Amino acid sequence: MDYKQYIKSVMDFPTKGINFRDITSLLEDGKVYRSAIDELAQFARERQAEVIVGPEARGFVIGGPLAYALTTGFVPVRKPGKLPRDVVSVSYEKEYGTDQLCIHRQSIKPGQRMLVTDDLLATGGTIDATIKLVEQLGGKVVGVAFLIELTELSGRSLLKDYNVFSLIKY
Ligand code: PRP
Ligand code: HPA
Repeated sequence: MDYKQYIKSVMDFPTKGINFRDITSLLEDGKVYRSAIDELAQFARERQAEVIVGPEARGFVIGGPLAYALTTGFVPVRKPGKLPRDVVSVSYEKEYGTDQLCIHRQSIKPGQRMLVTDDLLATGGTIDATIKLVEQLGGKVVGVAFLIELTELSGRSLLKDYNVFSLIKY
């Protein structure tokens, strides 16, 4: 399927000079959304993933349905102050300053085969931080899957040690 036709590009959002790739138009079409999830699920199956993990907010829109399709669990990675039980945290660089992501300490069993997913790979900072959390808990990252990869930003170079799959490339 030609998924690109379902992605709207918005110039100068959220700031001047950014050509924002908007996935909401793809999500609005049930057949296309389902087909995209099915393709990511195929990759996850090949990697024999046992659990899906994804960062808020848009990672949930991919990771939740992916876990449902595979009958696996889903582990959310969230901003500080959102998860109610004991967490581990990691700091990561954003365009302006640093941010933090957290995961429940008891959400992953050592050696569990984890598939890490998000809607989009840009600089790779978010997914790199997510992987660090998973590995800190002893999870084995068997694959990393995205709907969209912005190749110019070279996020993939941060992920050179992992098996990376993306459905749409710009
Ligand atoms: C966006 C996107 C990815 C991340 C990609 O999320 O959903 O998670 O940026 O950028 P990176 O590869 O440079 O880290 P955002 O931080 O805008 O949060 P949201 O999902 O809550 O909208
Ligand atoms: N689209 C959506 N999310 C993003 C983008 C983009 O182009 N760049 C960084 N996060």
